[in-house]
Amino acid sequence: MRKMIIDTDTASDDAVAIVMALQTPDIEVIGITVVAGNMPVKQASINARYSAQMCGKTPPVYDGIDTPFIRDPHRAYFFHGSDGMGEMKYPDPVQQPEAEHAVPALIRLIRANPGVELVTLGPLTNVAAALLQAPDIVPLVSRCVMMGGAACTVGNITPAAEFNIWCDPEAARIVFRSGLPVEMVGWELCRGEANLSDADMRYMKEQINTPLAHFSIDCNASAIRANRTWLGDPALPLPDPVAMAIAIDPTICTQSSLHYVDVECEGIFTRGMTVVDQLDVTHNPDDLAGSMWAVHRAKGKPWVRVCWAIDIPRWKSLLYKTVA
Ligand code: RIB
Ligand code: CA
Repeated sequence: MRKMIIDTDTASDDAVAIVMALQTPDIEVIGITVVAGNMPVKQASINARYSAQMCGKTPPVYDGIDTPFIRDPHRAYFFHGSDGMGEMKYPDPVQQPEAEHAVPALIRLIRANPGVELVTLGPLTNVAAALLQAPDIVPLVSRCVMMGGAACTVGNITPAAEFNIWCDPEAARIVFRSGLPVEMVGWELCRGEANLSDADMRYMKEQINTPLAHFSIDCNASAIRANRTWLGDPALPLPDPVAMAIAIDPTICTQSSLHYVDVECEGIFTRGMTVVDQLDVTHNPDDLAGSMWAVHRAKGKPWVRVCWAIDIPRWKSLLYKTVA
């Protein structure tokens, strides 16, 4: 069994990603740690536990840090609805969160399960706090698949930044500099043909037609509406499920390369921008780029795996398989 920890700010796309992991037979989700982002931790925890309940599973859920390290919290009510789940008014889940806080839980679970795969679906506040407290966990994590950032492209919450990174850029910078084996899945990979089209959603509801298929679309009702009105896009973007698909089956990422990545924390227009050294220009002999990249070069060769393309049909068929 592959062991996985999911760190999530559970709203409706996280919910589908959690279902995908729990419905994959060879994956054991040994913990779900909750971070604030889309929702305050309290609501995100309810949403995570309800998603697990939909799968008939009770993975331990640990509530975590409810505000970014430095920045004011911003929630995504406009996109995911007031409850984060399309205002479906689901009943409260039976399962309660564990007493242990998410940060000590992350450290304990990683130390007890060397080789564990960590999938992050929200801001990096919990993960960064764990790294600051216990840098020894870095070599114990075999993969850190991160839904986050925008690799050399536009952002979704500002023209320069993707929401998870923008929420807590200081935390994200700590994670990208830590040496953790990050596989960066930017939001751009869920756009275009990777969106669930109306036909895809009809297929899920009418052909697959299982409770999980209906849940996956129903809880995204606000996201569908928001995407149509805000971006004029008649489809459903699922960034967290795309990242989870790559976590479950790495070959779904069809093009990737290793780079240094850092995060803009001082910019006004560029706060939270993921700066990918795509052309390896920070290696110039005179170090013209300045010492800001020395902290990366000191660790040796670039280690962050940036995903540039996915196999869209295989991403969708994996989603269909897990909800079927
Ligand atoms: O930018 C998309 C990301 O922000 C997704 O993880 C979504 O759930 C929100 O957290
Ligand atoms: Ca998320």
